[in-house]
Amino acid sequence: MADYHDAQPTVFVLDFGAQYAQLIARRVREARVYSEIVPFDITVEEIERRKPAALILSGGPASVYAEGAPHMDPAILGLGIPVLGFCYGIQEIALHLGGEIPKTDIGEYGFAELTVTEPSCTLLDGVPETSQVWMSHRDSVGTAPEGFVVTARTGTTAVAAMEDVARGLYATQFHPEVAHTEFGQHIIERFLHDIAGIAPMWTMVNIIDETVERIRAQVGEHRVICGLSGGVDSSVVAAILHRAIGDQLTCVYVDHGMMRLNESDQVVHTFRDNFHVNLIHVDAEDRFLDLLAGVTDPERKRHIIGEEFWKVFFEEATTLEGVQFLAQGTLYPDVIESGNKTAAKIKSHHNLIPFPEGVHFDLIEPLRALFKDEVRAVGAELGLPDEIVHRQPFPGPGLAVRIIGEITLEKLDMLREADAIVRAEIGAWDTERAVWQYFAVLPDIRSVGVMGDERTYGHPIIIRAVASADAMTADWARLPHELLAKMSNRIINEVDGINRVAYDITSKPPGTIEWE
Ligand code: XMP
Repeated sequence: MADYHDAQPTVFVLDFGAQYAQLIARRVREARVYSEIVPFDITVEEIERRKPAALILSGGPASVYAEGAPHMDPAILGLGIPVLGFCYGIQEIALHLGGEIPKTDIGEYGFAELTVTEPSCTLLDGVPETSQVWMSHRDSVGTAPEGFVVTARTGTTAVAAMEDVARGLYATQFHPEVAHTEFGQHIIERFLHDIAGIAPMWTMVNIIDETVERIRAQVGEHRVICGLSGGVDSSVVAAILHRAIGDQLTCVYVDHGMMRLNESDQVVHTFRDNFHVNLIHVDAEDRFLDLLAGVTDPERKRHIIGEEFWKVFFEEATTLEGVQFLAQGTLYPDVIESGNKTAAKIKSHHNLIPFPEGVHFDLIEPLRALFKDEVRAVGAELGLPDEIVHRQPFPGPGLAVRIIGEITLEKLDMLREADAIVRAEIGAWDTERAVWQYFAVLPDIRSVGVMGDERTYGHPIIIRAVASADAMTADWARLPHELLAKMSNRIINEVDGINRVAYDITSKPPGTIEWE
């Protein structure tokens, strides 16, 4: 992402391998300042070339003395660029500038009470005398380097914050970026806005304007093709490309028939009728169903759908004249790969698209500087409907992974109806969007029931609803019994062929979110 946003002040977050580096970058952006994550071993030359307005050193391993612990070039601390170090970052500053870090092996993990000991301090100005902070460290600084003033302590940590105003160096042992630190965002904003003097310019309007300009410069007079899936990322890519280059954009929506109720109509309506985008809607349901007939193995289903999807897409893409670019919804977290050596590397996404023999398009990735919440905000600002902007994660193979066993049109329709009820009912209850994902699953079993005077032999529907932060782990959502009862009644009364409803109470691990 070289030099993408050098037009405006950029803060570099030096990644020392903390799981917190991304969080820091996001907090900086919440303060309306553009941030990028860079490897801890970034060179002085690179910094002088890119001219970041400030640097933040992330947390990292437990101790600067740990074997193989990452170290920055200390010369960077002398460039006159304001620096803020968190956790490992404070130790790194102390190590390079002559402070002492005794190996006490007395760690501090979790909540701690911070006491500001220097009322006239700069960084912690506005933080009350005592407040709650989040700690996660083993060693800590014992004696601050010369020139530094210690500004705060906790019960176990003598140097919880220190600063050298003359040199523009600031550091905290605690983590201001985590929500548990009461005045964390205040401290970050104090550093960015007041100390480093960076104006809060990273606004939605700015993001859109810059992205639009960037697209125009890259595309010129050429044409761009974009695969729409109905998901947030591809929808925002399409909307912003359309804003930038209008009719030079053609979108292809491959409808594999595994979409939820009315979803395809909504995609087509939004882009064709509201945005007036050139849209090719390929209704390939029959083609996919034919290929899936008799297939029951989950991996095989995924494989067939994935392969056929690109086949259909490229059949369309290659009929268009003069297309040079293929747009892709790569986001910033996809770009940063914090490997175990902590270096932020650029992933090669270019290999992911299975270009057929002899076919090639250059990639355009308009969202590769943005976090997911920024992408949603851009989408909303561009006028995309709420259902798209806040769409839950939905697997590429769609309902195919929620029908256990063979996929038939009849089962798809049954699941679509039941799923629509689940989404409507939980959606109406979950107004704060606290539930990460909710949907219906159709297993490959039938059971006996009774409706009226009649014996039934129908399928059950399983309701799945989970709380999660990132889909890596998840817990089943504690839905109220009344809500479960209402969904059960509605599904059994309204969906032919369903005579039983179950609720999945498995967390991840050991379960997965999807059933296949
Ligand atoms: P699991 O089931 O592995 O799902 O706990 C984690 C997240 O990934 C989504 N998911 C998929 N997304 N193609 C996708 O694009 C897939 O094949 C796929 N399988 C699962 C799932 O919905 C959840 O958010």
